[in-house]
Amino acid sequence: LARGVSEPDLAGRHVVVSAGGTREPLDPVRFLGNRSSGKQGYALARTAAARGARVTLVSANAALPDPAGVDVIAVGTAVELREAVRRVAADADAVVMAAAVADFRPAVYAGGKIKKKDGEEPAPLALVRNPDILAELAAHRARPGQVVVGFAAETDDVLANGRAKLARKGCDLLVVNEVGERKTFGSEQNEAVVLAADGGETPVPYGPKEALAETVWDLVAERLG
Ligand code: CTP
Ligand code: CA
Repeated sequence: LARGVSEPDLAGRHVVVSAGGTREPLDPVRFLGNRSSGKQGYALARTAAARGARVTLVSANAALPDPAGVDVIAVGTAVELREAVRRVAADADAVVMAAAVADFRPAVYAGGKIKKKDGEEPAPLALVRNPDILAELAAHRARPGQVVVGFAAETDDVLANGRAKLARKGCDLLVVNEVGERKTFGSEQNEAVVLAADGGETPVPYGPKEALAETVWDLVAERLG
């Protein structure tokens, strides 16, 4: 797959990337969140723009500068992310869900700050499921041939978990990271395998998040034909 660094093979394409991690508010000052830095999603947005794509980046709570030449939509919660991604995916050739979406959100949002009460234990926190945005995107493609890509961080039997998740989500590609003590979260480097619905398996050696991003766009470009 020899390719010049700035070959505009995504020219004329619109791609949507989600990045960062959602925050699910509990009250005006607290939320349930996760450790996603957004760096992988931002690397995907930058590299797609460098390859000529029009890029929309739906960014959830990433403390990173807007990449040049990319349309950035800031969102907070999973429900906001879903609405934004659905809207901009309507005319997209590819959607890459690099964001870490909270699986659950507090069942109740307290309009005022939750206070301690003397001598009382806290009430258990009731949670409800968030929508599965990736599965919805894959099941209801906004246009025929739209390429849908997911990310998964796995432990234990990483490949088997990844294959099962790819099938469950119904997406075309799933980038599977092995997570551990020092791996992935907030780091500049990444190691992954990209699983394809057609059985393909593309290992990406430990290296910068840009290199993984380039491999993802190579595989997307192949599928766009
Ligand atoms: N995802 C999503 N909506 C959700 C949860 C996840 O769109 N509510 C997307 C993520 O953006 C990612 C992919 O699905 O691209 C896989 O996320 P992951 O958390 O690994 O999948 P889950 O189905 O939530 O599985 P798990 O129970 O292992 O967390
Ligand atoms: Ca999850």
